[in-house]
Amino acid sequence: MSSTSNGAGKAPNPSAQWANMRPIRARDMHADLLAMPDARTGPPAEMVFGDWYPALRADQMKPQETALATLLGIPMLIGRKKDNSLFAMRDLCPHRGIPLSAGWFDGETVQCKYHGWRFEPCSGRCEEIPSLTQFDILEPTKIFANSFLVVERDGYAWVYVPEAGAGRLPFDAKGQFDLSALPAVPELPKFGARFRSAHLQADLPCNVDHGIIGLMDPAHGPFVHRAWWWRSAASIHEKTKHFEPIIGEDANGARKGFNDGFRMSAHAPSSNSLPYRILGKPITTIDFVLPNRRTETIRATNDKGVERWFSSLTTVTPVTSTSCRIDVIAAWDIGYHVPFVLPIAKYFGAKFVQQDQQTMVEQAQGLRSHPGLMLIDDADKPAKWYFALKQRRLSGVGEHPLQGPVELHWCS
Ligand code: FES
Ligand SMILES: [Fe+2]
Repeated sequence: MSSTSNGAGKAPNPSAQWANMRPIRARDMHADLLAMPDARTGPPAEMVFGDWYPALRADQMKPQETALATLLGIPMLIGRKKDNSLFAMRDLCPHRGIPLSAGWFDGETVQCKYHGWRFEPCSGRCEEIPSLTQFDILEPTKIFANSFLVVERDGYAWVYVPEAGAGRLPFDAKGQFDLSALPAVPELPKFGARFRSAHLQADLPCNVDHGIIGLMDPAHGPFVHRAWWWRSAASIHEKTKHFEPIIGEDANGARKGFNDGFRMSAHAPSSNSLPYRILGKPITTIDFVLPNRRTETIRATNDKGVERWFSSLTTVTPVTSTSCRIDVIAAWDIGYHVPFVLPIAKYFGAKFVQQDQQTMVEQAQGLRSHPGLMLIDDADKPAKWYFALKQRRLSGVGEHPLQGPVELHWCS
C-alpha cells in the first residue's frame, strides 16, 4: 500500500505543467450524421482496417485547436500541437474510459478530466499520473493511451486505422513513425507546381459499400445528374469502356491485394458534356483502388499544343459500419488565370455531390428494412469487382476479379 500523506510524498501542489491547460472544446465533425436515424439503423458493412482514411480537413486547424471525428466507428480526438504536428487519439482515457475530450489541452499534452493523467498525444505516452507518490513503483511512461498515425496531405488529416490488436504505433530507432512499414499515404496526383484546388464533403447515411458502388456507378448519370450544363435524359447512348486490373503492392511485394483495384483505361470522355468540350482533346483515366479511393485525371492538349490538366481524388470513408462520408479534392491548372473559375468549379462540384448525397439519403430510407438487392451486367460490373476485391482483401484468399483487360458496354 502506498502512503497518502506523510510529508515524504510528492508535493501536493498541481504540477507547473498544468498552468496553461485549457478545456478542450472540440467540435464533433460527425454529430449531424450520427444523429440521422438512417445512419444508425441501415444495414452495416464490414469495414477494412489497416489503411489510411481522411479524418477531417486540417488545413484550417491552428496550433492548440482540436476537433472530434469518428473513423471506422472509433471516436477520435484530433488536434494540432504548438509545434504544428497533428495528433489523433482514441477519445478515451485508458484509465477508466472517460472521453479525453472532456479534459484539457495546453498545446503539448492532453490531460484527462477524471484523475488528471497527462498524455503526449502523438505517441499516446503517459507523462504524469498526479496521484502517484514516492512510494509507488508504477512508471507512467510505460502506459500508453491509444494514438493513431496521422499525416497531413492535400489539406486532410490522413489517419492510419490499424487492425484490432495490431499493437502500438511503429516507431523507428529514432522514435519517429516508420511509415515504410505501412501502405503509402494517398495523394492527389498533380502535373505541375501551379494549380488551383477545391474540396467538398458530404455525409451519407448509408454504409460504405453503398457509398462506394454509388461512386463507380455509370448508369445513374443521366438520371441523378440531369442538368442543362451536364446531361439531359435524351443524351443517353451506348458506350464501350475498357478496364484493366490494378495490382497494388509495395516495393517488397508485401501486402499483396491490399490496394488492388481497376482502371478505366485512358479514353476521350463523352463528348456530350459541355465542360469537356471546352478543354480541347482531353484524355481521362479513372482508377479505383481499395479500400475506398477513386482518382480521376484529365489531361488535355489544345490547338496550340498547350497541356492542361485536372485531377480529383474521391474517397468514401466509413464513419461507422452503417454510415459514411464522401470527400472530394480536386486540382487543376485549366483556367488558372481566369477569374471566377474557382467559385464556378466549386459551385458545380458542390451541385454534383449534393445530387449524389440527396439520392443516397433517399436510398437510405429504403435500406432501413434491410432488403435483398441485385447487381446486373455490365453497368454494375465495377460494383461486382469492388465486392470481390474487398472480400479478397478481408479473407486473404482468391484471385483478382480481372485477369486482364476487359471491355464493358452500357447505356448512360
Ligand atoms: S479516467 Fe482518465 S485519469 Fe482516470
Ligand atoms: Fe454521381
